[in-house]
Amino acid sequence: MCGIVGYIGKNNCLPLLIEGLKRLEYRGYDSSGISCLHQGSISTFKKTGKIVNMEATVPKSLSATIGIGHTRWATHGGVTDENSHPHLSQNNKFAIVHNGIIENYKTLKTHLENDGYTFRSSTDSEVIAHLLEKNYTGDFEKSFHKTLSLLEGTYGIVALSLDNPDYLMIGRKGSPLVLGIGNDEMFVASDVSAFLGHTKQVVYLEDNEISKLSINNFKTTDFTLEEKKKEIATIDWDISELNKNNFEHYLLKEIYEQPESIRRAFAGRFMESIGTAKLGGLNMTPQELINIDRVGVIACGTSYHAGLVGSYVLEELARVPTAVHIASEIRYKNPIVDKNSVYFAVSQSGETIDTFLAMKEFQRKGSRVLGICNVVGSTIPRESNGGVYVHSGPEISVASTKAFTSQLTVFYLFSLLMGRMKDVSQQKGIELIQALKMIPEQIEEILKSTEKIQSIAKEYSKLDNFLFLGRGISYPVALEGALKLKEISYRHAEGIPAGEIKHGPIALIDKNTPVIFIVPKDHLQEKMISNIEEVKARGGRLLAICTPNNQRVKELVHDYIEIPECDPLLSPLLSIIPLQLLAYYVAKELGCDIDQPRNLAKSVTVE
Ligand code: AGP
Ligand code: GLU
Repeated sequence: MCGIVGYIGKNNCLPLLIEGLKRLEYRGYDSSGISCLHQGSISTFKKTGKIVNMEATVPKSLSATIGIGHTRWATHGGVTDENSHPHLSQNNKFAIVHNGIIENYKTLKTHLENDGYTFRSSTDSEVIAHLLEKNYTGDFEKSFHKTLSLLEGTYGIVALSLDNPDYLMIGRKGSPLVLGIGNDEMFVASDVSAFLGHTKQVVYLEDNEISKLSINNFKTTDFTLEEKKKEIATIDWDISELNKNNFEHYLLKEIYEQPESIRRAFAGRFMESIGTAKLGGLNMTPQELINIDRVGVIACGTSYHAGLVGSYVLEELARVPTAVHIASEIRYKNPIVDKNSVYFAVSQSGETIDTFLAMKEFQRKGSRVLGICNVVGSTIPRESNGGVYVHSGPEISVASTKAFTSQLTVFYLFSLLMGRMKDVSQQKGIELIQALKMIPEQIEEILKSTEKIQSIAKEYSKLDNFLFLGRGISYPVALEGALKLKEISYRHAEGIPAGEIKHGPIALIDKNTPVIFIVPKDHLQEKMISNIEEVKARGGRLLAICTPNNQRVKELVHDYIEIPECDPLLSPLLSIIPLQLLAYYVAKELGCDIDQPRNLAKSVTVE
């Protein structure tokens, strides 16, 4: 949710902390702040709004070698300077940054107030700073352990102590934290992008771990003080992937990256001569795979939509019944599991707490849960029973685009693998692989219509209350198209199965209602044409996503955007592209903050 960064080393930490926070700004961005040790006290700067606002308050001449920083996504207490992190203890000797929610903060706060502590913010996090002071008897490490033992809820915490300038204390339970190991310098952050320009050597902290981070070493223990052996991993992302290059926004860059990110998702995973796929990370033998009776998908938002597309493909190719669950719902539903089911936890970030906790619930019930994730080393892949990385590269814009199409690609691969163990013939498998390999070029073709989409978006940006209609495998695409539009342009939009429109939503249609029809060339095309007729008879501004030869559709609607013909099962990989671009250009026309839409955060680590 929020972003945490900490530094201890030989260099001036202030530019490093600010650079790190800017890299993390996509995670949450209500306000930001930093604290550092400077001339015998803790200097703190915090401000609401973008990081540049806070940066402007930091004196250029200031230099320090140990510090912590935070970008906030408020959960408790309004968006104010006082509520921004870091929070200081009463004697100003401890500063903390916190990501997550301290569920028992009210009780702790009452006790602390009774003990004479005065609170300066209305956050749940401030109790941590006061507890560090209260529990301090000359040993910062001990006080940190004691403090964490009193906290209920979720947290990633980094703490700084004035009297202990040689190390930072770090604790994790439910919110991601990773150490960056440099030469004469160490970093800690919510994700590696914060320090990728300085080191690629990282150590992922697990839940219930505490680290003491000094300039040249680190020590990790669990909550019982037992030392944990940690492995140093090397990140294979490149810092250049974190830049916008020549694009105006990360979102546009990421839309344009899809031919390449899809290629990366399938690279090395085809066994073309026998028309199947290999996914080593699943950790499952062919015997185990063939015994799967049911598949379940747990996910949120865009990843949920990817799961929905996956369910159509799996059922079609592998004839395995597939249910897709919204993670925050299924978790509390006392889900029924059966022993031959396999679940997929789908998550770009690998950190979404709803998905993670649902995964834990399924695992507790004895199920095998496999991750389909993008961020390497994130929590879901590490705690799952196996899985597949989608390898999209860093997705910075809050609205997900390239991760979605890569998640779909992984579902195609898994469905092909399962399908080939069942009814799909070798020839059909080979044809599907060939069709998948064509997709990147077909997307490049669609990207050539960007100018046309931009001019359509200009017109549609004047309208509100968009309906996206699709049938069969295009229905989840309608949901995803609507989500993209509302996330970044704040226009109201709904995705509806086209056949359902006559059961209610058609009442919404008047001459100003924009209705977007997703009509790839498939067996439901004729049905979609009837739906277009129904809507047309009642007014509405009609836009179709259709294939070039579909004259009938083109004649019926006001505007259309062409997508190439492809295997009908693969059509979501193509039909989503114009919808992503439409959302982008409508948002641009309306002057919205495209990469960091209001109220949203990239990685949702609170329930
Ligand atoms: C996508 O555009 C959204 N920002 C959001 O719905 C997202 O897909 C959801 O929060 C799940 O995130 P995850 O894939 O990282 O788990
Ligand atoms: N709960 C804390 C707050 O509202 C931390 C939120 C965050 O993770 O950014 O300040």
